[in-house]
Amino acid sequence: MNAKTSPVGKPLDRVDGPLKVQGQAQYASEFALPGLLYGSVVNSTIARGRIAHIHTRAAEAVPGVELVLTHENRPPIAGYDKPYEDDDAADGSPFRPLFNDRILYSGQPIALVVAENLELARYAGSLIKVEYEKENHATDLLANLEQMHEAPADLPDPRGDTQQALNSAAVKVEVEYTTPVEHHNPMEPHASTVHYLVDGKLEIYDKTQGVQNCMRYLEDVFDMKDQIRILSPYVGGAFGSGLRPQYQLPLAVMAALKLKRSVRVTLKRQQMFTFGYRPRSIQRLTIGAASDGQLQAIYHQAIAQTSTFEDFTEQEVEWSGMLYKCPNVELDYQLVPLDVYTPLDMRAPGATIGVYALECAMDELAYAANIDPVELRLKNFTTHNANEDKPYSSKALRECYEQGAERFGWSKRIMQPRSMQDGHQLVGWGMASGVWEAMQMPASAKACIDATGKLIVSSATTDIGTGTYTVMTQIAAEAMGFPMEQVEFKLGDSSMSEAPLQGGSFTVSSVGSAVQKACLELRRKLLDTVQQSPASPFSGKTLEEIDFADGWLFVKNDPEQKVRLTDIAVETGTMEAEASVEPGEERDGYATGTHSAVFVEVKVDEDTGMVKVSRVVSAIAAGRIVNPKTAGNQIVGGVVWGVGQALHEETQMDHQLGRFMNHNFAEYHIPVQADIGDIDVIFVEEHDEIVNALGSKGVGEIGIVGVAAAVSNAIFHATGKRVRDLPVTLDKLM
Ligand code: MOS
Repeated sequence: MNAKTSPVGKPLDRVDGPLKVQGQAQYASEFALPGLLYGSVVNSTIARGRIAHIHTRAAEAVPGVELVLTHENRPPIAGYDKPYEDDDAADGSPFRPLFNDRILYSGQPIALVVAENLELARYAGSLIKVEYEKENHATDLLANLEQMHEAPADLPDPRGDTQQALNSAAVKVEVEYTTPVEHHNPMEPHASTVHYLVDGKLEIYDKTQGVQNCMRYLEDVFDMKDQIRILSPYVGGAFGSGLRPQYQLPLAVMAALKLKRSVRVTLKRQQMFTFGYRPRSIQRLTIGAASDGQLQAIYHQAIAQTSTFEDFTEQEVEWSGMLYKCPNVELDYQLVPLDVYTPLDMRAPGATIGVYALECAMDELAYAANIDPVELRLKNFTTHNANEDKPYSSKALRECYEQGAERFGWSKRIMQPRSMQDGHQLVGWGMASGVWEAMQMPASAKACIDATGKLIVSSATTDIGTGTYTVMTQIAAEAMGFPMEQVEFKLGDSSMSEAPLQGGSFTVSSVGSAVQKACLELRRKLLDTVQQSPASPFSGKTLEEIDFADGWLFVKNDPEQKVRLTDIAVETGTMEAEASVEPGEERDGYATGTHSAVFVEVKVDEDTGMVKVSRVVSAIAAGRIVNPKTAGNQIVGGVVWGVGQALHEETQMDHQLGRFMNHNFAEYHIPVQADIGDIDVIFVEEHDEIVNALGSKGVGEIGIVGVAAAVSNAIFHATGKRVRDLPVTLDKLM
């Protein structure tokens, strides 16, 4: 198909948009089932100790209550002896809901009340009384640094002699940054609706980023091989919170198995603060450079919290060894186990924190060396990833700086802080680089032409709002030469072709490649079919000599020789092809990544300390963009979240109680419409034949990376004040 007729690269509307805006897309807690029961979870109020007694009789006595499940009466669970590690598990021993009487963190689920309706279940839950044997807890990262141990991360070996290079560097910055706990707060809270089938098998609607991950988890934990099917056709946001099976899922299954009934368990907003989150961190950076700004050495240490049962590890410091050309680099990553739940991947896990620190430190260096921040980055630009000692398959970051700066009007910036004003407001311009990996995972897909001539393509991936339905339809339509309207993409069903978790920005590169391959194989089958008849104008023709476009199969140099694709299928009945794609060997010799340059304007009211992000330009290099509209939405969403990270988001813990205090939207602040100014997204041209057959790198995470640094740097430029502790709330500016 030629570029003119291909839907790939076009800013098409979401194919699932009409269903969503009409309220017809069904989410995990919306599926009606006959005789459905409703579960409500009761959570612990202490952070560490054991349950001495749990009094459930009053709850059980409420008419309409069917079951109160605790560690004392839960069914035996085969997989609890050796905790199962799901696809996104951290090193250690995954949390087991209702395993025993031990309390490992505040908010831990300790009972499930199942009743005829949710209100009854919640009310009955309030009647449960617990006697705890409390133990002293440790929940404060800063107060427990002596407990730190090395993270089980695969850090690159130190290169050069960082200490010596730092000692002799002409310009040096030595800085420390702290970032708070942040919680994922997708619009759709976690929910599982378990359909108990007559044969005892389970069909489960779950809010997840991995239907097969949840299926395998339940199969293992409950010893139910081939008896579980997970469905997740629509997901109301996830951002990492749905990467691991969450506790409402096994609890709903326990109740369904015990009662032999269908059960739904939904979490309320407060309970969204009782599992994974972005960990609190301290980062120490020392950067040394020559007087012209040429980097000599980088030392980057991150210390982050984890739980007592798992070592949550993400890529926090690696970025400092790869983003710039620098001969001496030493990285260190430590974890402090606390009496809290295990942190969890949250949009651009690791980079969101690590690149924030690196890019703020680079800005501090720019001022120490008196060099324009963009110029400093260009001076240290490299297309070589020194951590892996490999060249990048492509890295159009230079173009990001140039096009972003041009669009923003960066050349008019006055370097001096407090030099720009708008009425009584201080104006600041700041920038930062962003980087994320361009990964690919094994994935498969099935393409099928049904008897009506419609192309149906499927894979067990999900669409967490990213646009997966739409872009996969585009990729299939292009590969098959079908018009968009004649293609349907299906996902969110564990019985479909194998697909990885939807995460890491690798869905387009992984599943998209499989979709493309399955369609190309179906092309071959179609050609084989029309060649069956010896009189066919296609006989003897190879795939190269024919083409597919607009629903026709035709001979390339004689386009009058054609056949309508639907006619072939109608004649022969359903035809299908399944394909699997692994990351290609050609990737081995290269590092792969997406990059960005983020430019931010802030206006700071000096009297109140209020910061407003008035303008953002984000220039992104992510290979071929399948759909500039859905991809652009990803970047805008990432920028908004980055503004939240910079100015608003922070889950605060009361360390006396060892529990989060602001577990609601009134007190956990996220940006609202009034907090957000113009956001301008540029996708720079980046051609890459190595990453995968599509040349697409994925854009789910790169949009947030660097934003918090650019905002912080703009605040410094506006006010002359360096706030090194996120979020930059107004009290820190006064
Ligand atoms: Mo993403 S944090 O891999 O959903």
